[in-house]
Amino acid sequence: MKNIDLLKVAYVFDGHKGYTLPGEAITAINSFLVAENLYLSATREIITKLENLNDEFLHLKDRNPIHQIKTRVKTPKSIIDKLNKLGCELSVESARENLTDIAGIRVICSYIDDIYLIADLLTSQDNIEVIRTSDYIKNPKPNGYRSLHMIVTVPVYLSDRKELVKVEIQIRTIAMNFWASLEHEMSFKLTNEKNIVVTQELKDCADVISNIDIRMQNLHNE
Ligand code: GTP
Ligand code: MG
Repeated sequence: MKNIDLLKVAYVFDGHKGYTLPGEAITAINSFLVAENLYLSATREIITKLENLNDEFLHLKDRNPIHQIKTRVKTPKSIIDKLNKLGCELSVESARENLTDIAGIRVICSYIDDIYLIADLLTSQDNIEVIRTSDYIKNPKPNGYRSLHMIVTVPVYLSDRKELVKVEIQIRTIAMNFWASLEHEMSFKLTNEKNIVVTQELKDCADVISNIDIRMQNLHNE
């Protein structure tokens, strides 16, 4: 598949109408749609598991460890940008093989212990397989970013086959999410001369917030 055709496909997906597409591009659109459906299904499977765990907790312990769940599936344009960045072939097959974050689930928990509890309960289920875990809570990124990241596969049952689909799960506390959301917004706007000061200030904020997370956990334990 030529680069330009996939770009056209991406434009059509992102709402730009008016192209007369060659057959090759229609095929590409179809394979994107099939893949998108797979990722949406995989996301739904995991959300159901998370909601079941959260509900059970409410009955057993009278509280919810999960505060909020957010999901997103990468747009075709964003998939192509990432494949280009990685220097990978531009095809749906290549995306499925090389990208681990086409489907993303962010789980916001109340306390630090809830993160590990949810991660353990979820990944001990039979049909979830962990491919990679990055613990940015025990080992924060140099800028102060904290979260538990997992790449998992979950089976999606189609009419004629079973597909193992990769999903990126980020689990963090409300406090970690507060920092990550604002840092993400600011990191786009940072001008060079302000960079060093703001980066240091953000790192300090991350450390203060982490301290508060630990204090909240201790209060909750008492
Ligand atoms: P990406 O190319 O960004 O997908 O990184 P990666 O695949 O090497 O994985 P990594 O675990 O570093 O980050 C994956 C995702 O975690 C990002 O897409 C963000 O959603 C989140 N993340 C990672 N680092 C940061 C950070 O420094 N700040 C914020 N706000 N989010 C981050
Ligand atoms: Mg990623």
